[in-house]
Amino acid sequence: MEGWDAVQSEAEQRLQELLRQCGRLPRHVAIIMDGNGRWALERGLPRVEGHRQGIQSVREVVTVAVCLGIPYVTLYAFSMENWRRPQAEIQALMRLLQYYLWRELPELQRRNIRLRAIGKLTALPRRVQQALRRAVEATAANTGLTLTLALSYSGRWDILRAVQLIAIDVRRGKLSPEDITEERFASYLLTHDLPEPDLIIRTSGEMRLSNFLLWESAYAEIYVSNLYWPDFRRHAFYQALLDYLRRERRFGMTAEQQVQRCLAESLWVQLEELLHEVES
Ligand code: IPE
Ligand code: IPE
Ligand code: MG
Repeated sequence: MEGWDAVQSEAEQRLQELLRQCGRLPRHVAIIMDGNGRWALERGLPRVEGHRQGIQSVREVVTVAVCLGIPYVTLYAFSMENWRRPQAEIQALMRLLQYYLWRELPELQRRNIRLRAIGKLTALPRRVQQALRRAVEATAANTGLTLTLALSYSGRWDILRAVQLIAIDVRRGKLSPEDITEERFASYLLTHDLPEPDLIIRTSGEMRLSNFLLWESAYAEIYVSNLYWPDFRRHAFYQALLDYLRRERRFGMTAEQQVQRCLAESLWVQLEELLHEVES
């Protein structure tokens, strides 16, 4: 089903209700949307068709995040290294980006979504920058989900940029080297106003971060799905969230020190059953 308004079955609504109630959902989900090209090639289609189909996965994941009250979602849409791709693919991707930034804006507004972007945005074509600026400004006062697009993004680049800004402040006498704590350092990153990601999802089975949120992901839970991004729809997202809920996050401590509440076994049975119903 295409579009934003996929009908939600009773089972899905109940699943959402239970997930909301469990009180342990991630605050920030960051997604490496990978496998668009392979999805298309396996169907004898041009790679760009995979990118286009991937938009529906974005709509579904964002819709679920809004329904569940997850406050932050970050999508890795174009890496700095992706500029090395063939010009024709880059152009097609930029055209899609520009078109959808324009086309989806009313839906973002309707859902009270605040759009943001991180990355070397000045490297984007001017028309994409304009479309982005317009969407970011138009949604700036929205109070629901903060949806961040990582565009022309590189984790190392952002860290280096922070180091340069810090060096400038030290030279100007605004900051002394002893004051460079983790918190202070993070305040110079483009992600300074986002919480660290709790869950990083990567699709298409690749087990790497590809330069995504390197500093911020220190204690993120990583979930790899074998599905290509265009096939990663609501059901797959719920599955990733259930997997996350099963994890024990220790942050360097022992299991005994953990105060994290386990979900009751009866709740798991219900969640799994409802997920199964959403699938069928
Ligand atoms: C992810 O899909 C989208 C971008 C990186 C822009 P890919 O285009 O990387 O698809 P694969 O990994 O080649 O299949
Ligand atoms: C990572 O995917 C970047 C995005 C999803 C935007 P790539 O397809 O570019 O990553 P590699 O090259 O397989 O590591
Ligand atoms: Mg890829």
